[in-house]
Amino acid sequence: MTSFVQMLVVVLVGEFLRRCVETLLFGFTGPLAKIPGPWLCKVSTLPHKLALIQGRNVERYRDLMKRYGDTVRVGAFYHGIQANPKAPDLQTETDKVAYKQRRRWLSPGFSISYLKGLEPILAGCLREFEEFLHVKCAEAEGGVAKVDIYGLVANLASDIISATSLGGSFEQVKTGKTYYKDRIISRLKRTSIFAQLPFLKYVPLVPPIEDAEIEDMLDRVLQKRRQMPKEQVHQDLLQILIDTNVEHPTVYTEAHIKIAGSDTSSTTATFAIKLLLEDPEALQKLIGELDSAFPSKSSPITMERTQNLEFLNAVINEALRVQPILATGISRETPEPRIVNSYETALHAQITAIGLDAANFPHPAQFLPERWLAPVDGVVADKRAFLPFSGGLRSCPGQQFALRELRLILATLFRRFELARVEGQDERLKAHLVRYFAANKWCVTVKERAE
Ligand code: HEM
Repeated sequence: MTSFVQMLVVVLVGEFLRRCVETLLFGFTGPLAKIPGPWLCKVSTLPHKLALIQGRNVERYRDLMKRYGDTVRVGAFYHGIQANPKAPDLQTETDKVAYKQRRRWLSPGFSISYLKGLEPILAGCLREFEEFLHVKCAEAEGGVAKVDIYGLVANLASDIISATSLGGSFEQVKTGKTYYKDRIISRLKRTSIFAQLPFLKYVPLVPPIEDAEIEDMLDRVLQKRRQMPKEQVHQDLLQILIDTNVEHPTVYTEAHIKIAGSDTSSTTATFAIKLLLEDPEALQKLIGELDSAFPSKSSPITMERTQNLEFLNAVINEALRVQPILATGISRETPEPRIVNSYETALHAQITAIGLDAANFPHPAQFLPERWLAPVDGVVADKRAFLPFSGGLRSCPGQQFALRELRLILATLFRRFELARVEGQDERLKAHLVRYFAANKWCVTVKERAE
């Protein structure tokens, strides 16, 4: 018995030493050995995992690039965020042909003519949003209400996405509870943590990535739609997914992405509001543009009339550049190593760092919407270095939807209400796949504009 235990210990110690030598050899002589970065990152993924779990990788990447330059060894090895590798969804599909097919199935739900047809639905959701703010202001002392605008805009975006894509609004603005935003953020948090610590799925009492209530709710939506008489069916994204699902039974999980899409737009809108309230000059310029485009407070604010508002578009671009919601980009493993800045490596698109590079955008940390309208220090804003929606084949199909939605939300808010900062609140941001306010709320004061 003793000799068996001794043998086991020798084998385990031997295996441990073998792994140590292999890690050291890979770290110091492997293909990434010459890339600058902290020495610990050569042999361990721990600093990377820790920062990801704590939601502070944006700051970590920024600091490392400041110290080591444009190409840094961050200690990450590629870990997919696939919840179930056997049943990939649109985002996690790695087979090129299958991916293109999935994308083609969805494309009618993102076409410009389809988006135009959504206008009345968006208008309905925005009316409720306005109504909510009217009531809040009317009830507040002196007509000035304190509102968690982060939560409210998240509710609006989830009403919009459910009304346009799932056949009926969740009516979150009406209820005032940030139920879906909270659940989506926790799901994204779990997705990002499980990708680093996959063993968690075997630990009892640790909640799984998928949120049972959201799954149930989507199942109920699907069931109701499937039972609807054909003549009542609205040709929305849900119907496209259902029709595709009849022929290809694993495809409808894309509905989950639609819900995540609502969070990206709403957080971007909140960042734009925050940046504007911190910059009174830019805010006045935007209000001036909105007042000329919509001379009366009751002028209808439509997709068409907001589409070409130059300063509004510049504000949205600049908010997406300074505070991109997918703050660290999404890792994509290249099938073969590529040469980047003369280093052979797998690729990771770092959206934030590209957008904050002074070579592309002078005074990069500064919120300067004007840079999208005229050169700053002689430098024209370079759209090739502006990747908030990613680029190429895998770029965001919801970009045109999101931009229309953002224009409508910001135009409605600033044409009809006067917003101001609430000082002294917790404004720290975290990032688990997407950025969010650590305090889970961010408030402003809101007052009706006179005319
Ligand atoms: C400001 C708002 C938004 C931003 C910044 C944004 C950004 C992105 C980015 C960077 C990706 C690529 C991620 C990757 O490499 O896999 C992506 C993918 C995607 N987005 Fe968006 N998005 C936004 C809004 C939306 C909306 C509103 C929808 C739906 C209506 C949407 C639907 C999707 C889908 C379906 C994908 C997966 C595409 C694919 O893998 O082929 N997004 N988004």
